[in-house]
Order: sequence, then C-alpha cells, then structure tokens
Amino acid sequence: MASTTNSPSTLLTLPNFSIQTSTFLPKTSQRSIFKKKKPFNFNSKRVVSCKASNGKQNDADHTSFLNRFDRRDILLGLGGSLYGATSLVRDPFALAVVPIEPDLSSCGESTVDAGTTCMNVPCCPPKLKDSKIIDFEPPLGCKIRYRPAAHLVDRDYLYKFESAMERMKALPVDDPRNFMQQANIHCAYCNGAYSQVGFPDQKLEVHYSWLFFPFHRMYLYFFDRILGKLIGDPDFAMPFWNWDSPCGMTMPQIYLDPYSPLYDENRNLEHQPDVLVNLNDGKSFVKPKKKDDFYELAKREQINSNLYVMYQQMVRSAKTASCFHGAAYLGGCVSETDIGCTPEPRGGTIENGAHIAVHKFVGAKNPPYNEDMGNFYSAGRDPLFYAHHGNVDRMWNIWKTLPGKKRHDFNENVWLNSSFLFYDENANMVRVKVRDCLDSKTLGYDYQSVDIPWLRSKPTPRRSRSGVGRGQDRGQDVAARRKSKNRRGFPIVLDKVAVRIEIPRPKKSKKKDDEEVLVLQNIQLDRNDSVQFDVSINDDEDDDNPCKPEDAEFVGSFSNLPHGDNCHSETMLSTNLYLPLSEALEDLKINPFEDSIVVTLVPKEGEVSIGNIKIDYVC
Ligand code: C2O
Repeated sequence: MASTTNSPSTLLTLPNFSIQTSTFLPKTSQRSIFKKKKPFNFNSKRVVSCKASNGKQNDADHTSFLNRFDRRDILLGLGGSLYGATSLVRDPFALAVVPIEPDLSSCGESTVDAGTTCMNVPCCPPKLKDSKIIDFEPPLGCKIRYRPAAHLVDRDYLYKFESAMERMKALPVDDPRNFMQQANIHCAYCNGAYSQVGFPDQKLEVHYSWLFFPFHRMYLYFFDRILGKLIGDPDFAMPFWNWDSPCGMTMPQIYLDPYSPLYDENRNLEHQPDVLVNLNDGKSFVKPKKKDDFYELAKREQINSNLYVMYQQMVRSAKTASCFHGAAYLGGCVSETDIGCTPEPRGGTIENGAHIAVHKFVGAKNPPYNEDMGNFYSAGRDPLFYAHHGNVDRMWNIWKTLPGKKRHDFNENVWLNSSFLFYDENANMVRVKVRDCLDSKTLGYDYQSVDIPWLRSKPTPRRSRSGVGRGQDRGQDVAARRKSKNRRGFPIVLDKVAVRIEIPRPKKSKKKDDEEVLVLQNIQLDRNDSVQFDVSINDDEDDDNPCKPEDAEFVGSFSNLPHGDNCHSETMLSTNLYLPLSEALEDLKINPFEDSIVVTLVPKEGEVSIGNIKIDYVC
C-alpha cells in the first residue's frame, strides 16, 4: 500500500499554460563571458607555461567536504529551519546537512537567458484537483522489462512505441502525462522553476551534482510507465540509444522519419541521417561526403576514439562514487554556482562527458540556443532525449558492475533522502527519494544485453607508439620546459591557444587506495556558453598535434551545455573539474617521486578562466 501525505496547502497556481514554443529573441552578438563580469585581470598576457603556487592561493580545500562533517550530523540530517539560508551560503561548515527537495508550492516560470533579455518559459506541472503526494513504492512483481537498443528494434516494437508516443502527444495539453508536459519536467528541474523546501531563495538544479543519475532515472521510469499505460502494455519499455557501441554511434534511424512521432525538427540536420557522433566534444565528426577509402579510415578512427572516450569516463576516471556521480549537493545550496556552499560543484565523468557531447551533437545549429537537445530547457521536447538518457542510465548500471573496491554508490543519507516529484501513469503525484532508485531491477526494468566494446579500449602512451620526436627524450624535454617556464600565475584565461603548465605534486604521502587527482578549481564561464577543453599530462608533442582520447597522456575534458537557470542573477558559473590520474601515471610510467607533472590544456570551444590547478590525493 502506498502511503499518502498531504501536499503543501498552497499548491501552485498554474501559469497560463502555453505549450507553444516560446518566441525567441535574436541573439544580438556573439557574447563573451568576459563582457559581463571581469572577475580577474584581463590584461595579463597569455600564460604559456607557469608553475602553480602550490597552496599559496586562497583556495579553500573543500575536496573531502562530507568527511568534515561529524558523521552523526549527516545521519541526523539537521533540520534546515535551524539555520537561515544566508548563513548557510556563507559558512559551509555551519551547514545543516539536509537533503534537497523541490518546493511544489513555489513553482514558477523557468527562465532562459536570451542574450540581452530574459525569456520566460512556463514549465511547472499542471495543478490537478484533489492533489495528493504519494510516496513512491517500488512495483510489486518480479517481471523485468528490458529496454532495447534503438538500432535493434523490430517493426512490431516500433509500431507499439510510435503508437504510445502518438497517444502521449495527443493527450490534453494540461494532462501531466502529455508529451509537452513531460518535456517541461526537465525544464522545471534545470531552469529554476523550483526552489528548495526550506530554502525559498535557493533554486533547485539537477545537473552537475550527485542528483544527476537519480533524477534522470526516475524521470524516464515514469515516462516508460505512461507509455505502457497508453498502449495497455505495462511491460513496455522504451529504447536506449546505444551510442557507446559502433553500431549505435549515429542518431538511431527510428527517430529520423519526419512522419514519425519520434521525429523532432529542431535537430542539427548536418548530423543526420548517418553521421558519427564524436563522444569527446559532440561537434567535430566524420562527414560522409564521399564514401571512399579515406572516409572508411576516418570513420574507423572516430569509432575507436569514441571507445577510448568511454573507457576514460567509465573506467579510468570513474573509480569512485564522487568521480562518477559528481559532487555532493546539499539542501540550501545553489548547486554549482556557489563554491562556498557546495564545495565541489561539478558533474561526474559521464555527465560532463559523453552525455553533454550527445546533447550538443543533436541540438540544432541555428535556433538561438541550440534547441531542442542542445539546451537543457528544451531538451525534453525531442523524443531522442529519452533514448539518450536511457543509455546514460544504462551507464550507471554498468559502472556498478565494473571491478574496483570503490565503485559503488554513496551511502550518505543526505543523498539517499533527496527527493523529486513526478506524475505517474495514473496522474498521481509521487515523491521519489534517491534511495528508491538505486537499482533498476527493483524498479522492474533493465537493458537489453549488448556488447560493451570500450571495456577493451585502454589507451596507450603515444610516445611509445610514435617512437619518434621529442617524446623519446622526455626527461630532457621536461627539464628544458622547466627552464623556460614563465612564473606568471593564475587565473589562466583559456580561449584559443593551448596552455602548458607545470604543477607540483603534493609532498604528503599517498595512502594505499588514494587516487591521485588533477583538480582544476574555480573554472569560470558564462553558463549560457558552449564550452569545451581537453586536458593531458606530460605530453611532449607540439601544440598543433594535441593528445587524443586514445593516448594515455589524455586525462579528460571539460564541457558545458548552456543552461541558464536564472536570468536575473549571476550568469557566471564557477565549477571545478576532477581528473583522476593514477591509471595515466601508471600507463606513462611516471616515477612516483617525480615532483611535478606538466599539464596541457587545449581549448576547443568558448572561453574560460581557471582559478587554480593542483594535484591532490582524493576522490
Ligand atoms: Cu537533464 Cu541530458 O540532461
């Protein structure tokens, strides 16, 4: 029996419900992040090579934030009412550790930054008479529904899926199960529609933190159940886009028929019908102009590169919950915008990596903000979104099966008790806690079993492959670089030219299971800009031949998908990037006593500034 609780007494008033695509304001000019705010000195010349000040920066070390709390505080989850939101923001160590909860009663319009103006989008769920919030109960029964790979489905399945989607789109516009209402769920949870229960000034955002996998899992779970209900087949499960496998690296055919309810016209037409995605940046790709030998070769290279990217994000860089899921996000915090409050604002490896790359790849080039998939507020309007997130969700399942002592979910109550609200297939509002969704099988679904080729894609050092060039004499080369280094410090402004920096390794001794991590702190960018840069270590090649994911020197990337969540406040985003190094150091045979590492940053798109880079033993 599902237990019921009363919903907040002041349920939202439904804003004039429009499910039309909002009118976009033209983007006046190419915005630069540094026009709006200048948080650092722009006159400093580009840093070509410099040495970190090794802790002299004013960079509060928040890396093991949760560990600093008394364990009992975490378990008790002190009540938020004890502390004002302001003091929470200013003093993270006086912070009550409370889970995140959306405040339905305060749901308001979502905002999307449209350059010089603010676009308001109504995304709140419709208010239904007799609203009660039901606490989620996992389904009874032990039958497992299998989500199939989208490129492998047969005609019968497709017929069912299309009928279900057609019916979902045909539901009354104010039915919470209507397709556009479902799309709006995503907009509401990432464009500032909700504030947090107990913290009216703090907006709720489900990206760039440990809420990412649980939120999207349950979002898709209810989407599945609604589809199943609409076709009278409770065993129905939608497909996943198997982009981590060579046969799935193009947009799945079933979504490309303009007459199908699975089609969306707001996509990048240059990327369909059969263009390979680049999982590293979602941008460059092998374009099938002429299917000659060169094309075949380039295609094979792209596929391989994607497999190396997957290995990087699932195996090499994702050895702990914090690396895979992202940072803690606690009640009263503003997610990634407030370093003082959420101490490690950042998403996990897959969220920041392949996940964003695929969003960018699908989103249209010309609408002002890369709608639909290329911007969070509109992403749910593309049926392909749900297949994309099916695969993201599948990665969570796979990750937990990979070897490694620390490859398991968090067990902090503050995470497990964070909650979301969804309408279920019977239009009842359900409160789901993170603890309800840890195991997809408990929820009654799993994924069709397909080959996972990237498990075999361990990168190799490129200097050992090329056998020529400066890499052969690495020791001397690094020494020469040290001599020529420029002592100019942080922040580094990264826009068009690669930057190489020598970073000292900590003197403290490493414990057995510690992961050596490269920490890029206080990365500042405009949250509405598309940004990407790659990071490699001890790479001695020329800058015009930067490392690629197949090289052991390559340790990861940073990307941002535009996601303005509040036009009226700060548009600058401050975030951190953690790149585990242990496996790379081993592959590159770097002496554990080597006292520094040379880091190369290669900008691909947009501008950022980086406040500090250091090496730590954490994660
Ligand atoms: Cu909520 Cu793929 O984003």
